[in-house]
Amino acid sequence: MKSEKVLIGGALVMIGVAGTLLVAIPYVQLKDVKPPKGLKPYTTSQLRGREEYIRQGCVYCHSQQPRDRRQAPDGERGWGRPSVAADYYYDKPHLLGTMRTGPDLLNIGARQPSLDWHLGHLYQPRAYVPGSIMPPYGFLFDVKEKADAGERVLSLPPDFAPPGKVVVAQPRALDLANYLIALDRTYPAIDAPAETKR
Ligand code: HEC
Repeated sequence: MKSEKVLIGGALVMIGVAGTLLVAIPYVQLKDVKPPKGLKPYTTSQLRGREEYIRQGCVYCHSQQPRDRRQAPDGERGWGRPSVAADYYYDKPHLLGTMRTGPDLLNIGARQPSLDWHLGHLYQPRAYVPGSIMPPYGFLFDVKEKADAGERVLSLPPDFAPPGKVVVAQPRALDLANYLIALDRTYPAIDAPAETKR
């Protein structure tokens, strides 16, 4: 039947156009992207933290893509320069995110480099940001009488510390905080060209 041929032919054309625009052209544009000088590969702990970030669904509330000022005032919000493809060289899968219930986190490590702050904020966001709607991740920590050797004890604001007990970070909380601190793309978007000899 004629109409079937038109239908199948039309579908194939649409798949071809979409494949060219969304797969082939971006592939050619991005295949030679090199890691910027200022970007370090993630350490093993940071990679585990990245897995935890995915597992806990942080990406559903936090983007990792500061935008150009024509699209959003992200620079004025203190979230950093607009990101470029090379910033995600080591990110597989990327965690660009679409929701911004909380701030963009691509440069959180530069904004907030304190491990203590990150651990405390994960344990109870409202201890640091009154009225925060971020959920507390208390299950990444243990409340104990006394810390064992080598355990990281949280220094919480007095109102939030359980009386007479200590809060220690589980390894996955430490990995996650290490990952957050590694999020720092404040180097220049384009590497300065190598000096040429005259
Ligand atoms: C329901 C939405 C929601 C989820 C899920 C969520 N957050 Fe948040 N987050 C927020 C909001 C809102 C803020 C701003 C208030 C605050 O700082 O507590 C925030 C703030 C932050 C900040 C501080 C940002 C800054 O600029 O000071 C960090 C870091 C952060 N979140 C990390 C995480 C991580 C890691 C996870 C997953 C374990 C996570 N968030 C899950 C909503 C969320």
